[in-house]
Amino acid sequence: MRDGADGLSGFIDAETLAGLERPTGSARGLPARLYVDPAFFRLETERLFARTWMCAGYAHEIPEPGDALPTLVAGAPIFFVRGRDRTICAFHNVCPHRGNLVVHGPQQAAAALRCRYHGWTFDLAGALTITPHWGGYGETRAAGFDRACHGLAPVRMAQWHDWLFVNLSGTAPPFADVLRPFADRTAEYALDDLVHGHSAPFAIAANWKLVEENFLEVLHLPTIHPALNAAAPFQNHAMVSDGALLATIIDVGLPAQWDEVALPRFPGLAPDNRTAKNLALFPNFKLIIGPDHCVSMVEFPEGVGLTRQRWDFYFLGKDSLTLRYTGTRQAIIDFFVGTNQEDVGVLEDMQRARTSPAARGNVFSGVWETVVHDFQRHVVAGLR
Ligand code: FES
Ligand SMILES: [Fe+2]
Repeated sequence: MRDGADGLSGFIDAETLAGLERPTGSARGLPARLYVDPAFFRLETERLFARTWMCAGYAHEIPEPGDALPTLVAGAPIFFVRGRDRTICAFHNVCPHRGNLVVHGPQQAAAALRCRYHGWTFDLAGALTITPHWGGYGETRAAGFDRACHGLAPVRMAQWHDWLFVNLSGTAPPFADVLRPFADRTAEYALDDLVHGHSAPFAIAANWKLVEENFLEVLHLPTIHPALNAAAPFQNHAMVSDGALLATIIDVGLPAQWDEVALPRFPGLAPDNRTAKNLALFPNFKLIIGPDHCVSMVEFPEGVGLTRQRWDFYFLGKDSLTLRYTGTRQAIIDFFVGTNQEDVGVLEDMQRARTSPAARGNVFSGVWETVVHDFQRHVVAGLR
């Protein structure tokens, strides 16, 4: 692969790479510049976000055939649509005629997808079906023009429970292979039983890598999250790194009771199970799983210094969304949203500090920051 001044070697020299490859306790992290340089963010967009499996959507938001939702992945407009057979597909959101967006907002139960510029119309599987006046007034066909050659371009996608992943380049290893170590860690939880209860959006004025690294590191719990640390002492977490899975896991890390009414729990767990798993699938998907809830966190990197993030809260079975459990659900939501708000302030300070001429590559605790170190090594590997 060509790797000239615009490639990775234009940003990271051999000495920096060697520093990153040392054992965690003596390694030197990614240079501060790589968190604030728009040119490096462009490289990440083209090489990393486009070539990996990015989480980009939620099945529960398009529950019926004909429901469609546009979004951006690696800077490219795409959309998800649920087909007549109820499976979800992703397409590039660009009309093959003159290049308008085809889906410019959420759609419900559409019979077909119609580009509003000149009315080209596609079925839910992306095939071009109507081309108004194409061959003359009132004449939708034209000699030598084969509609079958002008359908929407599909995007490679995979669905895992509620979460929709896309690989824009089409070249990433199969999703099931990438997911395996992550999925193995969730095997004891019946994720099929989850129902979506709440979404919380955040806009964080910080580079996406800071947001990911923060999730993978427990050393800041006593200083930034005293309440969380009281329930889940940082020293009791195990660091786990296995392929695209990066995680911190604690066996007894959740309050025994969130509120007076206990929520339904995952079937098959021991009654005293209070395990909290904090699992990340490189690069932008994370789950926190407890015995009676699951929270997903997805980052949508918008610019070198702006990361949009969504937290989605799931509970066990439709009954868990009834009024009876409102107080308990809200206690869980408030706990996690409050914890994230504690993080946002420090993440934005970290971003500001990385513009300093004195900012260098960070150093790591060889005990607590092994997973952060692995994350940074994944970033570099993904850019090659
Ligand atoms: S650009 Fe879509 S119909 Fe013309
Ligand atoms: Fe935190």
